[in-house]
Formats: sequence, C-alpha cells, structure tokens
Amino acid sequence: MTRITVLGGTGYAGRNIVRVAAERGHTVTAYSRNEPASPVEGVEYRTGDVQDPEVIRAAVTGTDVVVSAVSPRGELEGTGKLRGIERRVAEEAARAGVRFGVVGGAGSLFVSEGGPRVADTPEFPDAIKPEAAELAAVLEDLQSSAAELDWFYVSPAGGFGEWAPGEATGTYRTGGDVLLVDESGESQISGADFADAVVSEIEHSEHRRERFTVAY
Ligand SMILES: NC(=O)c1ccc[n+]([C@@H]2O[C@H](COP(=O)([O-])OP(=O)(O)OC[C@H]3O[C@@H](n4cnc5c(N)ncnc54)[C@H](OP(=O)(O)O)[C@@H]3O)[C@@H](O)[C@H]2O)c1
Repeated sequence: MTRITVLGGTGYAGRNIVRVAAERGHTVTAYSRNEPASPVEGVEYRTGDVQDPEVIRAAVTGTDVVVSAVSPRGELEGTGKLRGIERRVAEEAARAGVRFGVVGGAGSLFVSEGGPRVADTPEFPDAIKPEAAELAAVLEDLQSSAAELDWFYVSPAGGFGEWAPGEATGTYRTGGDVLLVDESGESQISGADFADAVVSEIEHSEHRRERFTVAY
C-alpha cells in the first residue's frame, strides 16, 4: 500500500487516478481549491491552492508519491505559471525523498522516431498550443533535474480528455516519446485505463526519471 497525493485530484485526469488508486487499496489524498462534486469513498480531500508554497509543502509531507494533475488553465493560464509550481513541487519532493509524477500532454510526443513533435504539426489546434508548450517545459525541467529527484511524466494519448471518457478495458499499451496510434490511426485512451497505467507506474516504478505514454 502506497501513500499517494494527487494535486488536482478532482479534475478529469486526477479524479480517475484517485478513484483507481483508492480501489487498489492505496492511501489517497487529493488537493484542489474546491470540494469535489462526487467524492470517492476513502479518499481524503483537502482544499488548497497550489500557488501557495505552504500548500505544496503540506502536500509533499507524509506521502510516498505526489502526482500533479493540475492543468494550466483558468488562474494558472500563462507562460511559466504551472511550470513554476511544478518546479516547487519537484524541489520539495527531492528534499523529502518523495516520488513525483506529472500528468502532461500528448503535444510534446513525437509523431514518429525523428519526426516532429505532435504540437508542431499543422493539425494541432492553435488553441491548445500554449497548454502543450507549458507542459513541454515541465518535461524539460524534469529531464534536466538533479538525480536525487525520482520522477515520471506521463503523456496521455492525443484523444485523451474530459470530452472522451471512454470505458475501463484494462488493456492498453505504453510507449516512450513517440505518439501511439491504433490500427485506424487514432490515438485514444479512456480516463479509467489512463489512470490504471498511472497507478501501475506508481506500484512498479518502470519509468524512473522517464516520460512514458499510454494509448490503445
Ligand atoms: N490529450 C492530452 O494531451 C491531454 C488532454 C487533457 C489533459 N491533459 C493534461 O492533463 C493534465 C490534467 O488536465 P485535466 O484536463 O485533468 O485538468 P482539469 O480537469 O482542468 O483539472 C484540474 C484540477 O486541478 C485543480 N486546480 C486547478 N487550479 C488549482 C490551483 N490553483 N490549486 C489547486 N488545485 C487546482 C482543479 O480543481 P479546482 O478547480 O477545484 O482547484 C482540478 O482538480 C494537464 O497537464 C493537461 O494538460 C492532456
């Protein structure tokens, strides 16, 4: 049983991770500014703003793994805002010997080995480019972090999101830095299967100081 703290544990990615982690018997704490609409039984919900360094310090204290599933939207929109927060979490996690996982984006994946990044292709929507750039910067920071920080960064499939919750199938693939697509060229993953992959990473640590991706 692992103590898992999820920043943004009431959002789309976060609430799926929180639910799957609790179902598997882990001790789960979730942070968000607002109380959840539908709390998961057994999860401890705490309210706090990750822009407050004390909230980050408290979140990293007394846990084994802290996962950030906060998005650079709303108040956190703007170049460098979320990046600064993730840097602070990373510093605190390294100091406390806590593993740090980040739910990032598909935009920083490559379309093929040696190919362009997904976010640099003509099909990538302009509206999502700032979010993709912010999450790509977070990945760069982790990749250049000091060795004592034990981190993972997970890029969901391109079609992952609140608009496509899908179903739990228990069957999916994981990859590295290249976007995974199915036989029809689609890159998809349900919220539940994505969360399954994240909790499995927490349980088995197969991607220490690495980015991985999850898709069908
Ligand atoms: N296909 C893709 O590549 C793809 C698609 C979707 C998402 N993503 C990525 O996945 C990650 C999570 O996205 P999401 O869609 O799951 O996000 P989301 O649904 O917008 O959830 C954000 C969570 O963060 C919390 N939050 C926001 N601001 C906060 C603050 N200042 N302090 C504390 N908590 C705060 C929210 O709760 P409160 O508002 O109550 O604070 C909520 O729990 C992001 O990195 C996003 O870029 C990738």
